[in-house]
Amino acid sequence: MDWFERESKVLIQFYRRQPVVFVKGEGCWLFDVNGKKYLDLVAGIATVSIGHCHPHFVSKVEEQLRKLVHVSNLYYTTPQIELAEKLQKITGLDKFFFCNSGAEAVEASLKIARKVTGRKKFVAFTGSFHGRTMGALSVTWKEKFRKPFEPLIQPVEFARFNDVHDLEKKVDDDTACVIVEPIQGEAGVHPASKEFIKAVFEERDEHGFIVIFDEVQTGFGRTGKWFAKEHFKVQPDVMTMAKAMGSGFPIGGVGVREEIAEKLEPTEHASTFGGNPLACTASLATIEIMEKEKLVENSEKMGEYFRKRLEEIGLKTRGLGLMIGVEVKNAFDLVSKALERGLVVNATSEDTLRLVPPLIINRDEIDFAVEILAHLTKTTG
Ligand SMILES: Cc1ncc(COP(=O)(O)O)c(C=O)c1O
Repeated sequence: MDWFERESKVLIQFYRRQPVVFVKGEGCWLFDVNGKKYLDLVAGIATVSIGHCHPHFVSKVEEQLRKLVHVSNLYYTTPQIELAEKLQKITGLDKFFFCNSGAEAVEASLKIARKVTGRKKFVAFTGSFHGRTMGALSVTWKEKFRKPFEPLIQPVEFARFNDVHDLEKKVDDDTACVIVEPIQGEAGVHPASKEFIKAVFEERDEHGFIVIFDEVQTGFGRTGKWFAKEHFKVQPDVMTMAKAMGSGFPIGGVGVREEIAEKLEPTEHASTFGGNPLACTASLATIEIMEKEKLVENSEKMGEYFRKRLEEIGLKTRGLGLMIGVEVKNAFDLVSKALERGLVVNATSEDTLRLVPPLIINRDEIDFAVEILAHLTKTTG
């Protein structure tokens, strides 16, 4: 019995997997069970930012693993405090809460919005994706994801993404928060416009709701800045983060302004594993490596180079930094064909490839990928 058959006998079939079994990773490269090598342009979906098994990351996590893994938030632990101090510096936000995933970060942020404003209504956008838990799903656009689980949390209003007029119609004095992805990831890499984000903050000032930036996918250097909010020169009231925060080690978080933190009290929210010493150490090591190896700058530079090369072979692109959407005709077919040629890419829909490689990627690796994509888009459309 092979791995595919074994998987089908023991795992709930929630995933449509590519036919490959990965067993090892090194830098931007993955190795399958047969020893075949692949260039990884998915990075665990915008997650493994420092590359697979970075030696400094491995040694820091290993050292912490031998010291202390978990004790509960009933007690103080040093990596959690150090990580929050570091995040203060790189986000400009004041106080933090740690959890284990993006959806959990969104859940916490929605609860915070209700508690702090005393209001009920959430406003989200067409195309949004915020996660699969009941709260996060309630502000997620795709009907297919939401429908089987209704009734979800209400009231939620969806305004058209990048449509200032529709935004103005949907927000009011009952709105607890507006939750927005600065660049929509799952929808296929669609950046918010500057005017749209400006309008979100103007409406906030008029109506007194909270602005939540969901930076789960865009955070930690992905877009060529530490956080995508910097492209818009704004500071959200609440920001969610996860994915690249631990470069593959599960950790998520919420950052808030001081005025919001002041209104939150003990026992109103919690997580058993959230902010445990091992996860916080993984995140601290990730940030340390990003700073030392200037990966935010590399994301900007290599993102530009990658987009330029793709345009040269006749492909249209969207996005910022190393969060790249590529317009194609038959994306799912391309994903399978690329895999056969040793290139791991992801499609968000039949017309969009999403390229979100490790932020350590270099020109030679990009050239390798472009060569394969050039060949495939010529032969398969
Ligand atoms: C913007 C955004 N928010 C939230 C999530 C949910 O994160 P997780 O899968 O870690 O729960 C995702 C995942 O793709 C995301 O892209």
